[in-house]
Amino acid sequence: MSRAPHSRNNGSLRVAVIGAGVIGLSCALELRRRGAEVVVYERGVELGGGATIRAAGMLGLASEAAQEKDAPAVFGLAHRAALLWPDFAADVARHGGGAAGYSTHGTILVARSAAELEWVQLTAAACQARGLPADWLEPQDLKRREAALSGPVTAALLLTSDSQVDAAVLLQRLGVAASRAGISLRLGRPVERIGASAQFTLPDGDRFDRVLLATGASLAAVGFEGRPGVAVETGLAPVVPVKGQMLALAPIAGAPRHVIRMRTAYVAPKDRWILVGATVERGRNDTGVDPDVSRRLRQEAASVVGVLADAPEVAAWAGVRPGAPDDAPMIGESRIPGVYAALGHYRNGILFAPATAEIVADQMLDGKVTALASAFDPLRFDNRFEAPHSP
Ligand code: GLY
Repeated sequence: MSRAPHSRNNGSLRVAVIGAGVIGLSCALELRRRGAEVVVYERGVELGGGATIRAAGMLGLASEAAQEKDAPAVFGLAHRAALLWPDFAADVARHGGGAAGYSTHGTILVARSAAELEWVQLTAAACQARGLPADWLEPQDLKRREAALSGPVTAALLLTSDSQVDAAVLLQRLGVAASRAGISLRLGRPVERIGASAQFTLPDGDRFDRVLLATGASLAAVGFEGRPGVAVETGLAPVVPVKGQMLALAPIAGAPRHVIRMRTAYVAPKDRWILVGATVERGRNDTGVDPDVSRRLRQEAASVVGVLADAPEVAAWAGVRPGAPDDAPMIGESRIPGVYAALGHYRNGILFAPATAEIVADQMLDGKVTALASAFDPLRFDNRFEAPHSP
């Protein structure tokens, strides 16, 4: 079975996107914008009910991606995404019914000890090597920049290339934009088996020319059959679950404007609450919350933003980040021609979304694989992985 790249002049290609998280919806919108007919299948009854809705929404080009010293392509993807984000945010606001809390105040990294200072210095060096602004804030400037900071902050670094968004609001806006663009959103539709012969047949009987797997941490639930009962393998690596516990505090007077990051926690202020995160629990795919962890997160936050000691707790939750064996996204065509992956976005799915959408649309519709995209070939693990489930 082989499927030729689609030419935009050849009429609409029908694409099924499996998964309505930020990656699935962003890809769906870009595919639609370039002329494809798109249907999104989501097993949950709400959009992005997996990792996206639980995300902190930080667009951490400098604070997260620049530190990927051994993965220059990951930084390249983050950099491309950060370039796309201002227009992406404007498009989402224009077509999605309003802004999504996009804020460009940036991040302040703070040190409270010698060990943390070393971490901040490493980040400053990584930013310098990547050409990103990283400005040390002298004590007298610190209070002026961010009046909320208090406590034993010994050094602070301002990263103006970071921004943030409210992930849950973004989801709503993407959903509205998708509907307005004529994308069919089929919620509460788990997709466990896809018939893969001349076309792809979804469980509701609808047929498609291409399938995009944007299933986040639930990739294992989807299987393909060439003939009834005969599995065909995608060759995709299993997604690695990485649990993150988080706390939401009520917005109170004196809250920070910037995202504040310590080595072991972060504070991400939104209009409607202040998020404090997050644990990094590799291999865990449960969403249980440990009250001791919530207490530790609050203590960390309050150690640098004193007013957070008394901010009422609004909610605590855990999300499951979809990781990959090498922690880099898996984007591109699988071993089954016509089946594409947009998986494994780990800690930076919200940031990567517009760049991943661009790569997916380039490959699926135009057969174009850029040098950047080839680094994320989902078959880079030597096709070692068989489909995680057989009929
Ligand atoms: N990007 C933030 C986190 O993964 O917790």
